[in-house]
Amino acid sequence: MQQEEKEHGFAPPLGDMSADDFRRYGREVVDWIADYFETVERRPVLARVEPDELIAKLPASPPAAGESMDAILSDVGSLIAPALTHWSHPSFFAYFATSTSAPGIFGEMLCAAFDAKALLWRTAPAAQELEEVALSWLRQMIGLPETFSGIIYDTASVSSLHAITAARESLGLKIREEGMAGRADLPLLRVYCSEQAHSSIEKAVITLGLGQRSLRKIPADAEFRMDAEALARAVEEDERDGAIPFCVVATVGTTSTTSIDPVAAIADVCERHRLWLHVDAAYAGSAGIVPEFRYVLAACERADTLTLNPHKWLLTPFDLSVLYCRRMDLLHRAFSLVPEYLRTLEAGWRQARNHSEYGIQLGRRFRALKLWMIIRYFGREGLAARIREHCRLARPPMN
Ligand SMILES: Cc1ncc(COP(=O)(O)O)c(C=O)c1O
Repeated sequence: MQQEEKEHGFAPPLGDMSADDFRRYGREVVDWIADYFETVERRPVLARVEPDELIAKLPASPPAAGESMDAILSDVGSLIAPALTHWSHPSFFAYFATSTSAPGIFGEMLCAAFDAKALLWRTAPAAQELEEVALSWLRQMIGLPETFSGIIYDTASVSSLHAITAARESLGLKIREEGMAGRADLPLLRVYCSEQAHSSIEKAVITLGLGQRSLRKIPADAEFRMDAEALARAVEEDERDGAIPFCVVATVGTTSTTSIDPVAAIADVCERHRLWLHVDAAYAGSAGIVPEFRYVLAACERADTLTLNPHKWLLTPFDLSVLYCRRMDLLHRAFSLVPEYLRTLEAGWRQARNHSEYGIQLGRRFRALKLWMIIRYFGREGLAARIREHCRLARPPMN
């Protein structure tokens, strides 16, 4: 033990925590997490705190001198955990089932330890290649054809934003180069989704500068599914009015009711009018791993892009969203910018595909690690068995 450590009880001033302390506190944290999972059902589901209560309990200024891990971890237990709503509580029934799991937590720990910035193949070859492997496994498990390549983003909101960007790029209107402002040659560009679609689609349209008016919400039927005939009529009307329809977003598992849009009928409309079909399967897509539930993804192989969130229903700690895309070249065309400082000797080598050229972010977390560990630990059948059991639990009891 170093002198400073003996005196202060924590790490020397210019280094990180000592390896010995890291081991000791690491064990303590893992024990704390194991206890948390074993006893979470005894906690209230909803945090019993008033707004600003936690702020009032914490010092307003940062500590001048470092504090001991004992003190910090004690506050996590006594102040932070009680101010959380417990998504892993067995009685948490809001929104979606939470999804974390032990191998996923280990994946997060290792991801933080490696601290890889997976911007280029060269900066994190394993991150790049494991992403390809894990997403190929997941693609096979949900039965999508090999014509789809996958890429990981943080959330479905961001996956859908990228999908709609690729769709817009497919129009060849030079929006990347010239933007959209003040262009007399650019009529209204239309995106379609059902009135039940997730708000992230509208946000994507706002973010892309298309404007909310470019999103046409198609009525749903009595089962909350997009009315494909109403879609066809809307597209024809817009074409007659001189707008450019370019993208339809179908939802497999809507947020409010898990209704499934009629993807086959929507794909027919898209094929007739040459529209990009994006499927938002953020929530329900994981059900496709279960052979008898594969029908939820029927006709999705006809989509151009599909998003699925392992952080919703595949035991994956937040965050990890997957976008499958049949035209990665369009994502590349929309987002690739390679300044001098990002050039490496591997440029042009297929395996050196740099994921940062396929999206907004430059630096990327090594998210694939946790997904790969989860798929290995549970296996395809283990994952399917768990999803099957979730559905059994959700079914109303038979009389
Ligand atoms: C159908 C659907 N799409 C997209 C989203 C957005 O997910 P994320 O939080 O990953 O952006 C949700 C989440 O509620 C959803 O239910």
